[in-house]
Amino acid sequence: MPLSKTAPVIDQPAPHRFSASGPLKGRIRVPGDKSISHRSIMLGALAVGETRVTGLLEGEDVMATAAAMRSMGARVEKIGEEWRIHGVGVGGLLQPQAALDMGNSGTSTRLLMGLVASHGVTATFTGDASLSKRPMGRVIEPLSQMGAQFHGSADGTLPLTMQGLCPAVPIEYRLPVASAQVKSAVMLAGLNTPGITTVIEPVPTRDHSERMLRGFGADVEVEEIDGERIIRVHGDADLRPQTIDVPGDPSSAAFFVVAALLVEGSDLVIENVGLNPTRAGLFDVLRQMGGSIEEQDRREVGGEPVADLRVKHSTLTGIDVDPAIAPSMIDEFPVLFVAASLAEGITTTSGLEELRVKESDRLSAMAAALTGAGAQIEEREDGLVITGTGGEPLRGSSNSRTKTLLDHRIAMSMAVCGLASRDGVEVDDTRPIATSFPNFVARLEGAAS
Ligand code: S3P
Repeated sequence: MPLSKTAPVIDQPAPHRFSASGPLKGRIRVPGDKSISHRSIMLGALAVGETRVTGLLEGEDVMATAAAMRSMGARVEKIGEEWRIHGVGVGGLLQPQAALDMGNSGTSTRLLMGLVASHGVTATFTGDASLSKRPMGRVIEPLSQMGAQFHGSADGTLPLTMQGLCPAVPIEYRLPVASAQVKSAVMLAGLNTPGITTVIEPVPTRDHSERMLRGFGADVEVEEIDGERIIRVHGDADLRPQTIDVPGDPSSAAFFVVAALLVEGSDLVIENVGLNPTRAGLFDVLRQMGGSIEEQDRREVGGEPVADLRVKHSTLTGIDVDPAIAPSMIDEFPVLFVAASLAEGITTTSGLEELRVKESDRLSAMAAALTGAGAQIEEREDGLVITGTGGEPLRGSSNSRTKTLLDHRIAMSMAVCGLASRDGVEVDDTRPIATSFPNFVARLEGAAS
């Protein structure tokens, strides 16, 4: 069997200068939701029969998940505009013949470790330089309690080899960090485990796994007690194939929303944006800051709330961002920091320690990048404090490159910053953007021309 390589091998960085732009106008669509795309492939691969998916994100991260599921026996192919997944059934995953290359994708790694944990297979996970620094101890701990064994890394980072156990042991696990990836890893392991596997979430995180598992016919109970969510997955599940329409990714829409708010004269409609309340925190925060973001045609797509967002240029005012909202906008802080840099007054963020273990340390990466572009930033252990320009464009930088550290969201956030700056911003490498948003550069510059 071939190695499950997914990313095209381009070994040179691809720098790009993003310059002050005209208003963003018209109507655009962003690619499918990354979290939902990963889960469609994984659950499709565990159902018996054919799952059909439209709107799937064809970014490198999701393609890493597709390659891994193929190497464990599922058929995953694109026919016309539709993805078709022929699953092997819960319990039916095969032994992969080569290492699973996870590229840049933490979601693929942690969720797939959950799947492998309760199957009798051994798998090696490898990743790029960014992923190889990220903590896997958070999934190793509960999955070891279920019986999986991990080898090859003293500090809990990739590369790692794991050996699943079948039958695994059901556990009750209280999440020590607010992480949908850890929650989902334990839930997915629970599918092929006898009895009931329970996850307790003190702070709610994105609930796509719960919604989609129910859609596939799994027995998943969710109870709320004193603000905590208790999720019970009944094991030995039978999943029925589904037809899924993946909504647009709010995390990708975020860059266009902030660009339209910041660039004078903008009036942009972003169609089909997923607005699951566990994901839509950024839009609430931007509205609190005075942003004009109007929902049009609210509807349901693929079991998720969706609307078109009409965004107009607005004068923003700094606020104290409530840390309780962080899990519902955890990937959107880099671009919020850009918005805050042009707001009137001070924006304070806190409770964001998790940002230090994303694709990069997003607090220090954004503090350095925005300071380099002329913004006034104070970096604290758990957040940034930003004094905005009051609407004046940032200076930008004519002679230095922004370090994006293999992090797609740093690159896209600083692209937006470039549009709202006087001298433009040069991003050192746009290649990582393909992990979540193929064609982003052309789409952003197209909307702003
Ligand atoms: C994701 C969960 C989040 C998020 C990531 C996708 C998911 O990570 O940052 O981009 O699909 O479950 P954590 O669960 O580690 O916060």
